[in-house]
Amino acid sequence: MTPTTITRVHARRVWDSRGRPTVEAEIRLASGVVGRGIAPAGASRGSREAIDLRDGGTRHGGFDVAQAVANVRGPIARAIYGMDALDQTDIDAKMIELDATPNMATLGGNATVAVSLAVAQAAALAHDMPLWQYVAGDEPVSLPLPEVQIFGGGAHAGRRIDIQDLMVMPVGAWSFDDALTMVAEIYRAAGTLMQEQGKLAGVADEGGWWPAFASNEEALQMTVRAIERAGCHPGGDAAISLDIAASEFGRDGRYTLALDQRELDSDGLSELLLDWIEHYPIVSIEDPFAEDDRDAWIAFTRAARHRVQIIGDDYLTTSAQRVTEAAADAACNAVLIKINQAGTLTEARAALDAGKAAGFGTIVSARSGESEDTAIAHLAVGWNAGQLKVGSFARSERMAKWNEVLRIEDAMGSDARFTGAAVLPPRK
Ligand code: PGA
Ligand code: ZN
Repeated sequence: MTPTTITRVHARRVWDSRGRPTVEAEIRLASGVVGRGIAPAGASRGSREAIDLRDGGTRHGGFDVAQAVANVRGPIARAIYGMDALDQTDIDAKMIELDATPNMATLGGNATVAVSLAVAQAAALAHDMPLWQYVAGDEPVSLPLPEVQIFGGGAHAGRRIDIQDLMVMPVGAWSFDDALTMVAEIYRAAGTLMQEQGKLAGVADEGGWWPAFASNEEALQMTVRAIERAGCHPGGDAAISLDIAASEFGRDGRYTLALDQRELDSDGLSELLLDWIEHYPIVSIEDPFAEDDRDAWIAFTRAARHRVQIIGDDYLTTSAQRVTEAAADAACNAVLIKINQAGTLTEARAALDAGKAAGFGTIVSARSGESEDTAIAHLAVGWNAGQLKVGSFARSERMAKWNEVLRIEDAMGSDARFTGAAVLPPRK
């Protein structure tokens, strides 16, 4: 037995930012250090994601996690007890083998992701290092460009508007701290604008302002106005990033924009998005088409790749294999990395590496159901992802992540490197 031998694997039910049950895992090492990880949960999920194992039935709306907690305490604990917490890859491989399905259907991706994160935290603690430094090893790191939601829509706002995320990226910032300073002003300005128009109605699931708009495009107009109102230059200081989350309102090449009372085919949606790119300072678009609309992805990327970053979220579901296929297809040029879509840190890291190998932009992302766990802030830095998306600029499950990156930047002092907009594909 070494000081980093796993001597206890424990789990309990805790609660996420939507007040739903989730899994917290704890890994104790022989030295006595304890690492902890909490599983996040999505609301607009890709069909190929690792399974978020829920009990069903009537308790807590069917969202309870008694089985996933039991899976950590029982089979996972027995499988990884006595392993070395420094062997993250072996531990994750052990859980994958034990699960024996392609999508963690047996153990639950929520069980495995909590354990995987807890193992990494315990190993970092054993090294007396922050997690970002432990995962970076000798590789160079940088502070991420934040992608911050101003208005939340889609599945996060009762489908009030069809587009899911209206975000800003502070492309003119010179440090992470400067980036958040700009975002804070834009977020506040957006709230003031909504109030002045009598449209202020609280916030959506990720803390973005409730999108009380008459059309999807009005949300875009309002975001530009908020950037201006904050004293920033749209496109120069802060640009727009959209998550269309098109799988939520489209399938088989048909897309229903309920708010606009329009039904579009793939070409129609492509034209609409290209028109928006033409008229608004948009630098990034996520999931522009449904996950089953491969030809539309390829055609859109051909038309827009020199002007915007095109991110696969539901389309790629943090899978190295799907990233590699999408790169061969030239179906997008960036990948969203959600640890719980993959189920383990090792698989998420493999998807990120596949993205980097393909020259893709890489964005570490939270879920709409989150917690006080700040591991992804560390992973975005330590994996040198370049971009970080954790929702809006309100609610502490979001702010905990932004604030953690501020601490990391502060602790790095003059070694801190922030590459800002250089992480985005070149625009013409
Ligand atoms: P989810 O959505 O966490 O609700 O699945 C976030 C996203 O689509 O990026
Ligand atoms: Zn998304």
